[in-house]
Amino acid sequence: MAEIIWFNKSKPEHAEFSQAANNSGGNKLQSKVLVTTESISPQPDNQQLAVTPTSSTAWHNRLIRGDKQYVLPALLPEFAGKVNLIYIDPPFMTGRDFKSGERLVYSDTWHSNLDSYLQWLYETLVLLHQLLAPTGSFYLHLDWRVTHYARVLLDEVFGFSGNGGGPGFKNEIIWQYQSGGRARKRFARKHDTILFYTKSSRYCFHAERISERRGDVKRNHMRKEVDSDGRVYWTISSNGRIYSYGEDSLMTPSDVWNDISHLHQKDPERNGYATQKPTALIERILLASSEEHDLILDCFCGSGVTPGIAQHLGRRWIACDQGELAISTTRTRLLAAARVDPFVIQCLEDDAVDAHASTSYDSTGRTKGETNIHDAS
Ligand SMILES: C[S@@+](CC[C@H](N)C(=O)[O-])C[C@H]1O[C@@H](n2cnc3c(N)ncnc32)[C@H](O)[C@@H]1O
Repeated sequence: MAEIIWFNKSKPEHAEFSQAANNSGGNKLQSKVLVTTESISPQPDNQQLAVTPTSSTAWHNRLIRGDKQYVLPALLPEFAGKVNLIYIDPPFMTGRDFKSGERLVYSDTWHSNLDSYLQWLYETLVLLHQLLAPTGSFYLHLDWRVTHYARVLLDEVFGFSGNGGGPGFKNEIIWQYQSGGRARKRFARKHDTILFYTKSSRYCFHAERISERRGDVKRNHMRKEVDSDGRVYWTISSNGRIYSYGEDSLMTPSDVWNDISHLHQKDPERNGYATQKPTALIERILLASSEEHDLILDCFCGSGVTPGIAQHLGRRWIACDQGELAISTTRTRLLAAARVDPFVIQCLEDDAVDAHASTSYDSTGRTKGETNIHDAS
């Protein structure tokens, strides 16, 4: 099979990760432990917060502050093969720093070193593949900069089946939007790409939950017909067969999504996080590719769209981000929701002292002194 190679490509050997999974050592990067710094069990009448580790053995969703390179190995012992759906929207290698005032929120520059970005992404994909359940689905959100490399990487990690029927590639989703200006020396770049892969040929996909009514729009040279009861049908013949669809029949959306707007400056959904994605985008993914109570993972959760929707739809979730602003923004979003399931806030053991010392939340759940960060789009 074709494989992408870069300078100093290092293959994460399965044995190293198994070692981490057994918690029996491994190298320093892979043996960190997560500790709970806050447990949140909202009461029905008001949302009470307790800054103590949870004593309950019942499931608690998890909001984890930390670098994914330590957090994902730390999740392996408990969650290898157990995550039903992963959506990630990692740094795109934009060459930019995203700031809040003067403060760096996250850096996406990579010193223009594509090799180091690819190694970083590759290690992420390998770990996420291990966390994914055998029937799990994986969505990777990127743009024109590195999608083409990522697809080859994903084929390596998930496997390649030429006809798309086995494990691996399912869709290259084009999310088209209208934000930003228009280039004059090339066509305007107005889409992101979301790569959809599955771990095996058995996976959940609920077209009926995300389908739209066929309606009265003519498509694909179809002929409109009206039966004796006045019902409208669209028909088309292909390979000697006639296909007929009622106006009220449902159509699975295509892989080009142009019906979900980007978040404009004054969009009520906006919570000030630079690279926030629209709820509708991630909701479509969760509705199509997960069931109630399924476990959803996003290790670059930013403003918390994925855990927010997962909670709203009754899924369990694990969300991670290395940024303090991301964690406080996500926390605020979760607590503001109509439905708040118990969750814990965790960090890596080494960071626990710092987290206690530096994080204090104001009444809105934001970290004190925090301001909104600049819009990226
Ligand atoms: C494109 S943003 C995600 C935006 C998010 N999907 C949303 O809708 O708000 C990428 C996120 O990845 C986080 N990030 C970057 N490198 C990371 C790392 N090594 N570990 C964990 N999070 C990281 C950044 O802090 C940032 O919040």
